[in-house]
Amino acid sequence: MNFGVILAGGKGKRMKANRPKPLFEVLGSPMLEWVIRACENADVKELCVVKGFCGEQIDEYLGGRYETVLQAEQKGTGHAVMQAADFLAKDTTGNTLVLCGDAPFLDAETIAQAKAQHEAEGNAVTVITAKLDDPTGYGRILRTENGVAGIVEQKDATDEQRAICEINSGAYWFKTAALLDALQSLDCENAAGEYYLTDTVAILLGKGEKAGAYCTENTDVILGANSQRDLLELNTIARMRVIDKHLDNGVVFTCTDGITIEPDVEIGAGTAILAGTILRGKTTIGENCNIGPNCIIEDCTVENGVQLNYVQAYKSTIEANVKIGPFVHIRPNSHIKQGVKIGDFVEIKNSTIGEGTAVAHLTYVGDSDVGKKVNFGCGTVTVNYDGIIKSRCVIGDNCFIGCNTNLVAPVKLGKYVYTAAGTTVTKDVPDYSLAIDRGAMTVKEGYSLKKFSGKIEYKDKK
Ligand code: UD1
Ligand code: CA
Repeated sequence: MNFGVILAGGKGKRMKANRPKPLFEVLGSPMLEWVIRACENADVKELCVVKGFCGEQIDEYLGGRYETVLQAEQKGTGHAVMQAADFLAKDTTGNTLVLCGDAPFLDAETIAQAKAQHEAEGNAVTVITAKLDDPTGYGRILRTENGVAGIVEQKDATDEQRAICEINSGAYWFKTAALLDALQSLDCENAAGEYYLTDTVAILLGKGEKAGAYCTENTDVILGANSQRDLLELNTIARMRVIDKHLDNGVVFTCTDGITIEPDVEIGAGTAILAGTILRGKTTIGENCNIGPNCIIEDCTVENGVQLNYVQAYKSTIEANVKIGPFVHIRPNSHIKQGVKIGDFVEIKNSTIGEGTAVAHLTYVGDSDVGKKVNFGCGTVTVNYDGIIKSRCVIGDNCFIGCNTNLVAPVKLGKYVYTAAGTTVTKDVPDYSLAIDRGAMTVKEGYSLKKFSGKIEYKDKK
């Protein structure tokens, strides 16, 4: 059996936060999630996460998906792996991948290729390495004519060793049995006074085992975040990678300002994404749409030819040729059908809006089933909540809702129903009817003259 051990115990002092570093997000997912996904995609599915600093947050995030072990004190990467010894002892016949929970770009391909080399060479340990122009801060890979000889940390390295530019990514494949054996020989006699996992390489070589290095060309895979500045850089890299993919697919970007697209979002060719637009989660956008400026679209299906301008939409479906915005909120579980037009300051929640319907301004439609070609006057409100329960409104095809109509749910309008402006509808209205609810209007002539008792002229002058 192959195991994965993800190190997520370190404090990450420089992040200056009460949150474990691996839970900081890159493009909408915690770095830990990126690492877990890479493992899963490389078919490493028996995972153990070593938690430490604010470890309960790791458990809360994982929600029992994977096993965790607590490293109560952070005494180094070797010490962290020791906490997983019982987990690994379940089956010592296979290999164990050890990686850092704060290096999100290590991908499944690199993991798989390193494993192939690890097995082909019969290594007890294979370190994933990269060559960097500036290796400062990383562990350096020591080599002799016999191959990899060990890893020396920056703090412990001589000037000559510091000039080596092949560095340790912090990810390794071990034979599980060899790893468990080597952990027992670790000590903390070094500049940091920590149990270095990196020392296992020299220990295993000393026991006559083989060690190797898989040197990756893709230096991004080693990038980690030690500070908020690093995290911003990781986000920038990830963000531009996604935008790059969409450019290849024919998506139009005239600028990339404030545009953030999460990795699982799909966008059709000919669609333009405008400044300030954030596309999240499992969102699919069709062809020839215009999305933005300043939209947030999360977990939505948007069909072809849709125009969204200053729209926030969540967990909803927007069919073809719909035009929405500006300043519109589409809340979860809404279904906006073909050709609908929704204008400024409208909120739609948990509702279906039928084909060709227009909701032009200042309207709230919640918990409602609206038919085709309905026209909503300005200021219509579905009164869906009585303080205890939410109820639905049903509005038939071709209704004409007058301005400032209140529809007190549960209520049903048939088809071709008119409501007069200002009507509060409290009972069902049959097809082809007019609902009107108004007191008779009275006009009191001379009212203001009397009120100001002849001083109108004085007021005019002021
Ligand atoms: C480590 C490697 C270094 C490598 C670098 C790559 C060692 C001794 N050094 O150094 O060779 O170039 O990663 O980024 O391993 N962690 C724990 N418990 C601890 C200490 C760390 O869980 O007690 C976790 C951290 O949360 C992090 C990972 O282990 O996810 C790496 O720890 P970090 O302190 O960043 O190691 P580096 O000093 O960067
Ligand atoms: Ca690090």
